[in-house]
Amino acid sequence: MELTRHYAESLDKRDPLGSFRSKFLIPENEHGQRVYFLGNSLGLQPKSTSTAIDFILQQWANEGVESFHKGERPWLQLHDQLVQPVSTIVGALKSEVSIMGQLTGNIHLMMVSFYRPSGKRNKILMEAKAFPSDQYAVYSYIEHLGLNPDEVILLVKPQQGKAHIDEETLLQLIETHRDEIALVFLGGVNYYSGQLFDIKKISAAAKDAGALVGWDLAHAAGNVELKLHDWQVDFACWCSYKYMNGGPGAVAGIFVHEQHIHDPHCKRLTGWWGYKRDERFKMHDRFVPEPDATAWQVSTPSMILYACLKASLHLVEEAGWPVILEKQRLMIDWLKQIIHDLHSPLFTCITPDSRGCQVSLLFHEKGRMVYDRLFEKGFMVDWREPNVIRLAPVPLYNTFTEIWMFRGAMKQILTELA
Ligand SMILES: Cc1ncc(COP(=O)(O)O)c(C=O)c1O
Repeated sequence: MELTRHYAESLDKRDPLGSFRSKFLIPENEHGQRVYFLGNSLGLQPKSTSTAIDFILQQWANEGVESFHKGERPWLQLHDQLVQPVSTIVGALKSEVSIMGQLTGNIHLMMVSFYRPSGKRNKILMEAKAFPSDQYAVYSYIEHLGLNPDEVILLVKPQQGKAHIDEETLLQLIETHRDEIALVFLGGVNYYSGQLFDIKKISAAAKDAGALVGWDLAHAAGNVELKLHDWQVDFACWCSYKYMNGGPGAVAGIFVHEQHIHDPHCKRLTGWWGYKRDERFKMHDRFVPEPDATAWQVSTPSMILYACLKASLHLVEEAGWPVILEKQRLMIDWLKQIIHDLHSPLFTCITPDSRGCQVSLLFHEKGRMVYDRLFEKGFMVDWREPNVIRLAPVPLYNTFTEIWMFRGAMKQILTELA
């Protein structure tokens, strides 16, 4: 890959996704469009989202509750329309996916179903640097069961001086504790380092040790290739406001492998929205689950959030998921090369080669100054206390030329701060 503006522009010119940027609302400042590298935090708003919301509001205004069943787009059909593209993105059977709730709430629901401590097999293997909400959820559920989290949780840590976790160390830990681990629960892509785990390999090792395995895919769903069904993952959950552009607080999703759906040992917390669909409104006393992942749904979902997600996923379908993945690989290789070429003593790139869209820079000094100056120059990147800048250009709305412009801005800032 050449490090020239001409090369960046030529990549943009032959980009099959080039037309998709204009389908999003790009934040602006007084100089024009800003460069938004925050797909890992909150994906941008598709222009079609507001029309999709208006449509729901109009249905509500015109038909009230009848809109659940009637009209050209009944609300009750929305869930399945979302499952179609999402199951492609996460590599699942349609029956294994449900679009529901919010990520942390769904982690709690999954803990009920998949953390089954029994005698000495009661440990949960997690990352030491898991996203805080995952830690809070897991700790609180363990305490709720009357167990001591400090005795039950096994933490896998990065090696001294490293930010990412060595997979061999992780696999060794599973092996060492093979008779004690009840559940392996990890983030597919680490929110801080951007490390993408080998989900297939780790899931296989966990299962070989007799444990169940679940993944928080907040930073992986819509970002990297996933084959949850084939990889025999037991469960997974994700949010849809990052790489799926579903909007702030977007409706989340879960995956439950088909082998668990009819398993009587797999207990769940239930609500009427998980009831067998064709009899849900008969209001029976005892719960009968829908025979797929929607059995985990608890409450009436927000049709507005469903509509937002449908609008954004329509763009993924239009673009083609494999085409998005292809551009992602090219884009991030280009970004990594550009960062490497900056040769700055101020920061180290802590994202390993196994990664998705995100690249994290650990600053040894002046990190906040670099972030502030980037912001002034129109670059929206992510600041993570105490000293990390995360960058996540995404295939649907970022360009190679923007990455080139980032290089120019960084060169200038680094010279000024030298
Ligand atoms: C890895 C990870 N897990 C959990 C969460 C919490 O998600 P929510 O606030 O949607 O429950 C986030 C939020 O960004 C996250 O990145």
